Amino acid sequence: MDSFIFFLISIVISLCFCFTLQAHVLPSSNSNNPFPEEAHPTKSGYLPVATTSSSAIFYALYETQNSTLPLSRTPLLIWLQGGPGTSSMIGNLYEVGPWRITESITLEPNPGAWNRFFGVLFLDNPIGTGFSIASSPQEIPTNQEGISKHLYVAITTFLRLDPVYKHRPIYIVGQSYGGKYASTTGNYILKRNAQLHASKRVNLVGVAIGNGIIEAVTQSRTQPANAYYVGLINERQKIRLAQIGNWSEATTAWGRLQGKLQNMSGLATLYDYTRKDHLYHYQDWINQFMNIAEVKKALGVNESQVFKVSSNDIRAAFRGDIMKSVKFRVEGLLRSNAIRVLLYQGQYDLIAGPVQTEAWVNTMKWEGIVEYVNAERKIWKVNGELAGYVQQWKSLTNVVVLGAGHLMPADQPLNAKAMIEDWVLQKGIFGNSPSFKF
Ligand SMILES: *[C@@H]1O[C@H](CO)[C@@H](O)[C@H](O)[C@H]1NC(C)=O
Ligand SMILES: *[C@@H]1O[C@H](CO)[C@@H](O)[C@H](O)[C@H]1NC(C)=O
Ligand SMILES: *[C@@H]1O[C@H](CO)[C@@H](O)[C@H](O)[C@H]1NC(C)=O
Ligand SMILES: *[C@@H]1O[C@H](CO)[C@@H](O)[C@H](O)[C@H]1NC(C)=O
Repeated sequence: MDSFIFFLISIVISLCFCFTLQAHVLPSSNSNNPFPEEAHPTKSGYLPVATTSSSAIFYALYETQNSTLPLSRTPLLIWLQGGPGTSSMIGNLYEVGPWRITESITLEPNPGAWNRFFGVLFLDNPIGTGFSIASSPQEIPTNQEGISKHLYVAITTFLRLDPVYKHRPIYIVGQSYGGKYASTTGNYILKRNAQLHASKRVNLVGVAIGNGIIEAVTQSRTQPANAYYVGLINERQKIRLAQIGNWSEATTAWGRLQGKLQNMSGLATLYDYTRKDHLYHYQDWINQFMNIAEVKKALGVNESQVFKVSSNDIRAAFRGDIMKSVKFRVEGLLRSNAIRVLLYQGQYDLIAGPVQTEAWVNTMKWEGIVEYVNAERKIWKVNGELAGYVQQWKSLTNVVVLGAGHLMPADQPLNAKAMIEDWVLQKGIFGNSPSFKF
């Protein structure tokens, strides 16, 4: 059962994709080189997580290419993959980084790159994930508080690497389980900021959560009806599924529910109910690429280090954390009146999609919640085409992205880019929030 649950948890972050491969645009110069110079990150290497430990977080920074602002004021996005235990190199090489991995283990330019107007910093978190180093298994955190402390040290160390970083507006973006890291770390930064002189604070201004696992119990309860109303199961199956939840053994019940729903529906994955085949190929491609000696060398990673896109040890360490709600952390961000919060979901995700998200969002305790719930859900277009829907009130914005599953930016690269750019820069439909600018 455990391995089955872990398998299910593993799909929390790993959605399969089949996409039509276009003719590969090989990076220029030397096509035999798997990792040409122009695809290297601006900076990469290791950041400490505690003064008393040699454990370290691997980072890769891709600096802004076309920001119109001076670098010292150009936003910096920090990307945190989910899992738990999945490398942010998925975000980098498959979702929002400037280069995308292909089937032939080469890189091609990503039209949806998020580093046009922003710097993007990918962190392999927690320690023991991807290229990050856990000097002993005991140092691997087992909960969100432990994660936040490590990330705080890593982020503040990063910001000291160059004086120009010091006051850049910081946005933390967490996908899936990374939504837990992003919201908890956001609160931790606010708490630390309150104890520090203004010159020492982290200039955190926003937290974005993509297809987030924020309150797993509430999210699961919506699944039978969600699956029923999109035609995947019948009424009798819906009732059977709804009876599963013995929430005193919640993690087990959660696994059983996902398993049964997958079994009844025959879907390849619950992370995109439009996909019928089981393709996790992009994870193999990333594993192959990151383990090439020249790639490690270029990234400043010891050649003896073996890259694993997803870590079973980390998943095991977080078993007790899976069902714990962090809704109060999102509330904390909103109540601070200092942080803008973006929630976005690919429409086809049955685990952390629009229905699962609305279920926890609408029950938040926050002074603006009634106005938010009653706010008009606006039609959102990108280049004249329907892209999804936007609902917002003051600092809270929710976006449903059409035609996408759990890894939304991989499915809708151009719309994902339009969304993040306009939300961060408060433009277009994202600039209309009543009396809320900072
Ligand atoms: C920056 O601008 C150049 C020239 O227009 C363009 O080729 C490049 O794709 C842009 N970079 C990003 C990340 O969008
Ligand atoms: C739910 O799980 C608890 C703990 O294992 C057990 O004591 C209880 O009998 C279970 N309830 C049902 C209805 O299965
Ligand atoms: C799925 O259904 C098949 C056929 O009914 C059954 O043998 C199998 O045990 C089921 N698996 C799960 C996880 O429920
Ligand atoms: C790489 O790791 C090996 C094994 O841990 C170690 O012996 C070696 O000194 C490391 N090399 C560098 C350059 O850090």
